[in-house]
Amino acid sequence: MRRQGMARQMDPDDLNTERIVTVFGGTGFLGRRIVKRLLERGFTARAASRHPARVGRVFSSARPDFSSTTRMPVAVAADILDASSIGPAIAGSQAVVNAVSLYVEQGTRTFERVHAKAAADLAAASRDGEVGQFIQISGIGSDPRSDSNYIRARGLGELAVESAFPGAVIVRPAVMTGPDDVFLTTIVRLIRLLPVYPLFGDGGTRLQPVYVEDVAEAVCRLIDGRNHKGSVFEFGGPRIYTYTELLREIARQLNTHVRLMPVPFAVWNVLAGAAELLPAAPITRNQVDLMRHDNVAAIDAPGLKQLDIEPRDIDEVIGLIEQLRDAGSRSSPA
Ligand SMILES: NC(=O)c1ccc[n+]([C@@H]2O[C@H](COP(=O)([O-])OP(=O)(O)OC[C@H]3O[C@@H](n4cnc5c(N)ncnc54)[C@H](OP(=O)(O)O)[C@@H]3O)[C@@H](O)[C@H]2O)c1
Repeated sequence: MRRQGMARQMDPDDLNTERIVTVFGGTGFLGRRIVKRLLERGFTARAASRHPARVGRVFSSARPDFSSTTRMPVAVAADILDASSIGPAIAGSQAVVNAVSLYVEQGTRTFERVHAKAAADLAAASRDGEVGQFIQISGIGSDPRSDSNYIRARGLGELAVESAFPGAVIVRPAVMTGPDDVFLTTIVRLIRLLPVYPLFGDGGTRLQPVYVEDVAEAVCRLIDGRNHKGSVFEFGGPRIYTYTELLREIARQLNTHVRLMPVPFAVWNVLAGAAELLPAAPITRNQVDLMRHDNVAAIDAPGLKQLDIEPRDIDEVIGLIEQLRDAGSRSSPA
């Protein structure tokens, strides 16, 4: 019998199991939630990771977001940059999801290498391996003609995947929120900490934050529901805020006041360039690039509504962030 809390290793029987889905990026912020929901729906979910031992830790029953009743995924060692590791990882899969991220370029690990070339390699291997469905997680605003290396690579990645795997489904989320995100949790912390909060530019960029659980559920419905071959979905939350409105709303929910200060994008770019030299960059230039443009789902693109999902707003996520903070302060020594 397999113990709860331990990721399974791949065994030959898994190749005979129906309804196998392999999630590249299955240990990530979005990917692990997709894996969890697939398991709950009775799929055999493979979490592909460069560090398969990490799969067990991520899905450990000790973590509050993964209950002890959750079945465990199959841990598969794979690096999307190593074509020879892709084939065995996806063998026998009904569907493959690419939820791999790269937020800071390092040496040969460029945005184009990961988001375009490697995504296309994974899609081509899935086509050759007769995988039924390929889902590419991209982002709103992806544009192959953009001046930004990041936004352009995401756009090129979509085109390369569509050409390598005809009928691939592209999923473009807006900025995603969750109790373990880097977006909302950072804003909540900084609003409490800073006497004056720096805006991106004049704070007029429009955002539509979407709850990561809603996106994960949507991806599972794409796999488990009717055929959406060749569609491009854009997933946004229930409300569109300017950045200024978002900060004021978060402050209101925290029962505090926020003083805002416009900061030009050129200054942010310099700060982010320096921050990227740190081991865990608090801000990156690609995030600054993304904040220059509205990040809102297109009105005519299929979205959460078409999948019968009622999106949840930031108040729910702020509630969860606050619960975690309260639990942390109760458990920390006085
Ligand atoms: N977070 C957001 O707000 C947001 C918004 C819009 C779109 N997106 C997109 O959504 C997707 C998922 O983002 P996320 O925030 O969930 O990412 P994340 O938490 O940073 O997770 C990244 C995942 O990528 C995997 N990975 C990285 N390099 C890899 C490689 N060479 N080979 C195999 N796996 C690799 C990591 O696995 P290991 O380290 O275990 O190998 C990890 O599971 C990305 O495409 C991202 O651009 C995110």
